[in-house]
Amino acid sequence: MTETADPNRPTDPAFDPGPAVASLETIVSLSKRRGFIFPSSEIYGGINAVWDYGPLGVELKNNVKRAWWRAMVQERDDIVGLDAGILMAPQVWVTSGHVASFSDPLVECESCHRRFRLDELPGAEGLSQTELRDPTIVERLGLRCPVDQGRLSEPRRFNLMFKTYMGPVEDDAALVYLRPETAQGIYVNFRNVRETSRKKIPFGIAQIGKAFRNEISPGNFVFRMREFEQMEMQYFVRPATAAAYFEEWRERRKAWYERYGVTPARLRFREHAPDELAHYAKKAVDVEYRFPFGWKELEGIHNRGDWDLGRHQEATGENLEYFDQATGERFVPWIVETSAGADRAAFTFLIDAYREEEVRGETRVVLGLHPELAPYKVAVLPLLKRQPAIVELCHRIRDDLKRDLMAVYDDTASIGRLYRRQDEIGTPYCVTVDVESLEDRAVTVRDRDTMRQVRVPVEGVRAYILDALAATHP
Ligand code: GAP
Repeated sequence: MTETADPNRPTDPAFDPGPAVASLETIVSLSKRRGFIFPSSEIYGGINAVWDYGPLGVELKNNVKRAWWRAMVQERDDIVGLDAGILMAPQVWVTSGHVASFSDPLVECESCHRRFRLDELPGAEGLSQTELRDPTIVERLGLRCPVDQGRLSEPRRFNLMFKTYMGPVEDDAALVYLRPETAQGIYVNFRNVRETSRKKIPFGIAQIGKAFRNEISPGNFVFRMREFEQMEMQYFVRPATAAAYFEEWRERRKAWYERYGVTPARLRFREHAPDELAHYAKKAVDVEYRFPFGWKELEGIHNRGDWDLGRHQEATGENLEYFDQATGERFVPWIVETSAGADRAAFTFLIDAYREEEVRGETRVVLGLHPELAPYKVAVLPLLKRQPAIVELCHRIRDDLKRDLMAVYDDTASIGRLYRRQDEIGTPYCVTVDVESLEDRAVTVRDRDTMRQVRVPVEGVRAYILDALAATHP
């Protein structure tokens, strides 16, 4: 923590609670070792900035997406879902401004020909967007290649959209883009959704799906990838109410991370400077998280005004206005957008949940994930795997549980090690069957966080676990 930091004011830019883990490597190695996240195409040497989710990672990410859907669609009367295509009419991206403006400043080393994002070079991190567009900036600041100290080129804008061809002919007429955001799929479906769902303003459309960006400098594990998933919601409002909804949504979105256990002090807001705003935004605030590599964007909340619907209406000649039957008014709705990364959210939950504790002279690694996010809810473990009656009872209990939740059986180590393993992947409950269980028809249920053990009748295990999980519903 810096000297001027005020721990009671986490919005103070000087406040630094420190990261949940000192080194990112701790999370990278846990992810690989336990099957959360693997490098893509690893046996071919990998492909930069694409990551694959293993058996535990896919459960965690699915749970994150489910928790988001629950908060953004299921629990709300005013928001409906959508699943639009990744490929869209290419004109969409011209209209949206992405073809012209969705770019980052790139510089190239004249000797080694490596390319860098200008704003990430040492000495250029704090530059404004205006300075980043200045052709003399590299010269003025004396910036050099961080690898071989070679001379760097003037900055040029590099468009981040991936291109491909649709159909059997690879020419300009067949060019299509892999969507760089899911939002446009919502805007082009605005009328379809409004008419079929009969929603009245204010209302929202939510979508989860893949997005692709040819990032110049991806990195920090799954923080910045070239293929990732977004969880976006577009809230359509009257122009005069957009500012108020913007405030409401930024609070609500920050609260969502806290609701699922992220340490409040490691979350803060950062408002975009006027020259930093994306081409579509009137106002933007990032929810930032204190990652091991600094405060970084976790989610963006944007007041997009009538930019999107207005532009699509103009380009297509289709009427995208909203007609208010009560007042007789017609207008193009303004949009308040909440835009989160599913991977970045899962990554944040993973980092923030990590802790190491001393237990009887040994280090215990625990992923204190919210039970709703934990990959497995229960592990069923035999105290003696050589006793068929114990193993059989374990399987019976597991089979009974797995209809409702992710339950696993493991007998590949001693009970102490099995507990540690489940702690390390965040399993909230372990059920242990021992010799006595065969006599008294009861088992031990162990709580991940308190390590408290209670004896529960076999017939009551399912109800006990379901009740315990229900009690943690945020
Ligand atoms: N529709 C608005 C939009 O896309 P953004 O700030 O560019 O806004 C929103 O992206 C969120 O998507 C980010 O806050 C981040 O969580 C996620 N995201 C963006 N680029 C990403 C990348 N290269 N890798 C992983 N997640 C990314």
